[in-house]
Amino acid sequence: MQKQQIRKGFSKLNKDQKIDLTASYFENPVEAAKSLKSFWHSEKDIQQRLDDFSENTISNFFFPYGIAPNFVINGNMYLLPMVIEESSVIAAASNAAKFWSERGGFHAEVLSMTKIGQVHFIWEGDTEKLKQAMPGIKKKLIRETDHITENMRARGGGILDIELIDMSDQIDNYFQLKASFETIDSMGANFINSCLEEFGMQLKRFLKEEKAFSGKEEECEIVMAILSNYTPECLVRCWVECDIEEFAEIDRNLSAQQFAEKFERAVRIAQKDTYRATTHNKGIMNGIDAVVLATGNDFRAIEACAHTYAARNGQYASLTDINIENGKFRYELTVPLSLGTVGGLTSLHPLAKFSLELLNNPGAEQLMMIAAAAGLANNFSALKSLTTKGIQVGHMKMHLFNILNHIGVTNEEKLRVANHFKDKKVSFSNVKELVANMRKGNS
Ligand code: MEV
Repeated sequence: MQKQQIRKGFSKLNKDQKIDLTASYFENPVEAAKSLKSFWHSEKDIQQRLDDFSENTISNFFFPYGIAPNFVINGNMYLLPMVIEESSVIAAASNAAKFWSERGGFHAEVLSMTKIGQVHFIWEGDTEKLKQAMPGIKKKLIRETDHITENMRARGGGILDIELIDMSDQIDNYFQLKASFETIDSMGANFINSCLEEFGMQLKRFLKEEKAFSGKEEECEIVMAILSNYTPECLVRCWVECDIEEFAEIDRNLSAQQFAEKFERAVRIAQKDTYRATTHNKGIMNGIDAVVLATGNDFRAIEACAHTYAARNGQYASLTDINIENGKFRYELTVPLSLGTVGGLTSLHPLAKFSLELLNNPGAEQLMMIAAAAGLANNFSALKSLTTKGIQVGHMKMHLFNILNHIGVTNEEKLRVANHFKDKKVSFSNVKELVANMRKGNS
């Protein structure tokens, strides 16, 4: 009964009390509490830091942290840190990285670095007057945010522009201040949001003070002030290219040319069919998210933006494009990635910091190129498998240890089973049967 009640004041409890209360929902509260605590970090100050990232923290949720080696990106070799729970993502990334490392590696360029924020407001009056006042409004907003932008300006960033957007034809009296920002190596969310909230306050003040406005025109309602996670102008392109002949060994049943053409068809399908495009792009995000997480960046923002970008032409489509002609294969990914290498969790999370060090402390632009390469690598491997032997052979092989852990086996049994399935198809029932037979002494 007690468990059906609305619980007030949970956030006011201390950590032990929160654990006890949560554990009381289990049949064996002592074991439940013990299990939560078993995932705490052994160093108290590190655990405290992790606790402070969020609210009501009672434990840590572990994900594998792995390395995809041999990533050659613009001539530099990287070991890519990847945080991912899905079997075969790191194997797929490593596989593609190795393949392309022998064929010029990944090439990448950042096309633009601009981020966007909006002040959404309701204002009733003569729109022409508002438009004419914009140079004055802009000047005031930039001046009144000097104290916020000072450090960013010193680093070469700041506010790039502020425009008035009239959307009163769609929602009565609705306007926006649409501002663009350069945030250098930080993702910039806090910086942008602080500027925008100040813009809102200063806009209200401007309308009151400016003689050109009278009556209702002196007022406006600031509905909200917030950055946009859609950053189509914070864009990176990554590509691989080689002679089609390089694919000669890729599959026993396909010539190099046949493979390239089949691969191209798979991409064209993802450019036309939304169901396929979603899965195609999910495979890209397997690689991107894993690097984004490993470097302490906001994977929800990255996901939201990538998918909006994929639908920018009115239909959700592939983020990659392909060109095969004159014996050459070129495959590219273009994706907006608003990433940071300073601020946020990047230096607070011990493993995010470690990842950035492993990547030689890149700036945001470099990290955009690295994450894009991880995305392209994973997608290349997925399409390579899908258009040749299918995805399940490799996937189930990597999934084998999950199955074995699920069944519960000894290390010795694990090795014997892995050896058995080296050249055989893995399925849950096959594995279960083999383990049962081994235990009966039949295998
Ligand atoms: C699985 O996580 C990702 C794939 O489904 C991607 C794809 O189909 O392109 C293999």
